[in-house]
Amino acid sequence: MARAFGKVILLGEHAVVYDVPALAVGVSRGAVASAAPSTEATLRLGERLATAGDGSEIAQGLMALLAALGHDRVAIEVTLEVPAGCGLGASAAIGVAAARAVLELCEPEKTPSFERVFAAAMAWERVFHGNPSGVDAAAATSGGCIQYSRSAGIEAIPLGRKLPLAVAIAGPPASTREMVEAVAKLKDRRPELFQKTLDGILSLVKNARLCLEAGDAPGLGQLMNLNQMLLSGLYVSTEGIERACAIARDAGALGAKLTGAGGGGAVVALADLDPEPVLRAWRDEGLSCFATEVAPSEVAP
Ligand code: MEV
Repeated sequence: MARAFGKVILLGEHAVVYDVPALAVGVSRGAVASAAPSTEATLRLGERLATAGDGSEIAQGLMALLAALGHDRVAIEVTLEVPAGCGLGASAAIGVAAARAVLELCEPEKTPSFERVFAAAMAWERVFHGNPSGVDAAAATSGGCIQYSRSAGIEAIPLGRKLPLAVAIAGPPASTREMVEAVAKLKDRRPELFQKTLDGILSLVKNARLCLEAGDAPGLGQLMNLNQMLLSGLYVSTEGIERACAIARDAGALGAKLTGAGGGGAVVALADLDPEPVLRAWRDEGLSCFATEVAPSEVAP
């Protein structure tokens, strides 16, 4: 059995597509995969069975993943522990867990390197997301708390204290590809405003990194709230996301924002010590939610 982490982006989604660093954490809910020898390449994902060459997107992703690993003729089964399309890194977790399962089967004598698993997960991600920055695949592979940018890659961040996080599903799933394309159109229409937003997010991320290292949770929470305002300015927030953030803050969260591409999906809130009051407030409003902590780092990048 091979595992991969889900992810939450603490700050920097969308901007990371334009090479601004993002801060993300791997969370213990993610994906679990196994692989067995087979006469053809297949991928079972819950009820769905894709066979290489059946023309589906999943089959294309499977072929890209296997080509990156240099293997074929394996039957992979993946179980997802996070909802798909909600900003919790489901797609990257599938790619990472599947890559690890294939390598466990085909190269049992070797410990899979971060680079190899990451490259295979990126090949998988490109089929679904067109132009992924790589932050999801990096967090799904490494766990822990990371800073990631396209040009500088991944850097592990030592945390000054635990991060008790609460996650709510604030709306229906949205397509990452469509949300990223919508932001790209905004960039073309309003280049100056867009650049100001990127500059703003960059300075929030720099300060948030210092807060993470110093264990300054109230500071981090405020920066998450400011990042949410800038994401709203990119039109990737929704009424449901704003409502879930407001409920979390009223219930004592230090900060709350969307995570991932937005347009629906998940909200993450940072609690001071105990996420339970935030979860209770969300449940009272009928939102499905769970608490999570940062998964320990699995691979020192
Ligand atoms: C999606 O989890 C994060 C985005 O920044 C897209 C990406 O980085 O590829 C919206």
